[in-house]
Amino acid sequence: NLFIGGARKPWDGRVAEVTSPVFDEATGAKAVLGRLAQMDATAASWAADAASEAWDRGQGPWPQASLKERAAAIRAFLDELEKTKRDEIIEVLMWEIAKTKQDATKEFDRTVAFARTVVDQALQTDATEQFGRWTGVSGVRARVRRGPVGVTLMLAPYNYPLNEMYAMMMPALLMGNPVILKLPAIGALAHVLTIDALQKCLPKGVVNFVSGSGRETLPSVMQGGLVDCLGFIGGSKGADALIKQHPHPHRLKVFSQLEGKNLGIVFADADLDEAVRQILLGALSYNGQRCTAIKLVIAEKSIAPVLVDKLSKAIEELPRGLPWDAGVEITPLPEPNKPQYLAELVEDATSQGALIKNARGGATNGQLYHPALVYPVTPSMRLFHEEQFGPVVPVAEFEQVSEVIDVVKASWNGQQAAVFTSDAAKAAPLVDALSTIVGRVNVNMQCARGPDVFPFSGRRSSAMGTMSTTESLRAFSVETLVAVRDD
Ligand code: G3H
Repeated sequence: NLFIGGARKPWDGRVAEVTSPVFDEATGAKAVLGRLAQMDATAASWAADAASEAWDRGQGPWPQASLKERAAAIRAFLDELEKTKRDEIIEVLMWEIAKTKQDATKEFDRTVAFARTVVDQALQTDATEQFGRWTGVSGVRARVRRGPVGVTLMLAPYNYPLNEMYAMMMPALLMGNPVILKLPAIGALAHVLTIDALQKCLPKGVVNFVSGSGRETLPSVMQGGLVDCLGFIGGSKGADALIKQHPHPHRLKVFSQLEGKNLGIVFADADLDEAVRQILLGALSYNGQRCTAIKLVIAEKSIAPVLVDKLSKAIEELPRGLPWDAGVEITPLPEPNKPQYLAELVEDATSQGALIKNARGGATNGQLYHPALVYPVTPSMRLFHEEQFGPVVPVAEFEQVSEVIDVVKASWNGQQAAVFTSDAAKAAPLVDALSTIVGRVNVNMQCARGPDVFPFSGRRSSAMGTMSTTESLRAFSVETLVAVRDD
């Protein structure tokens, strides 16, 4: 079935089996979780047409509804989803993207909490009306109305298929935009489970799904010129390619959260045990499949061997297994080619003199890739630059702080960095320097997006716009000034 224009439409075109990265050890068979419509260009254009009809150049019932009315519909949807689908969605996340029960539960609950906070804050501040006071302007009363941008296409990645889609979709809907969700190739099933609640609580055409190959569907959605706003969380290259497909890219309002090759910078004076705990969380939570993961540790040369020793022991102790195993931390990787890609990166480093420092590092069992610490990593190695997005922890060395700044400066992105030191004053100049290159600097803590009230952003290829429970309302809205002569 397709979900377009508020209804399930029958689909007799191509469908694909959705399989789990978790396979049966005895037979090697992968579990089939469901079937997903592989829409073609024509079907994708139906979704754009339905959203455009709901928008009706801003005159549709949804963009014209009051903030209170939209908030009530969204709250009803969230209530329904929590009441009827929470357990099923958590289970499907465990099977389809191999999140542990704890992480899958967190993803669902964080998503609903984010959405509820957005709604509460929008109502408290009346996000659609702001009264301006301008000094030096007399004879005019002015207010700013904040309203929808228009038809909004959004794409979210497989690592937070529900959470990151909703972190865009909920503010976008609340501000009055009809949306088209391009379901991720991996992680779509959680969305399929939301259809009943969407159908019950939101007007028709306000949420529309596109599923299947992005190459096949997205050109038709973009090239029709009906999309006014793009919310994109994923890879930088994909975002660039998609924006270019719009007939008038400059008319597109873009919000994006993309990649990060985030550094974990460890000074000799850091509490190394605490640094290890944070790096472990930062680099290997959900197998390192987070844009915010620490993707290169760079340690002061004098303590690098000690840090590597402690970190590789801690990595080796991480429990690995299936998402439902008690206490498990490392699970199979949902991307079919990821183990092979990681093996290539590690091989490239070891062929140039780096070593895998932990016993099982790099071993595989189906889609399970045993986390590997690779040391010493140098700038000639791919691991130094590429966003591995998986359970490989490269460790490099530095002697002068200027070397660290040079690494961050040379990078194509600028999301976050983590600095570990016991001397905050000594680290202050580095924190200042990093502040003009990355979107967030963490001191003695891992890199992360949350708490969700914090503004989440980045520089260069890492982001366009800011995400948070308040900032996202701005990302998916535009201002209109109403000026009234008053003399
Ligand atoms: O994958 C990118 C996410 O925004 C990371 O979020 O730091 O909460 O895991 P997180």
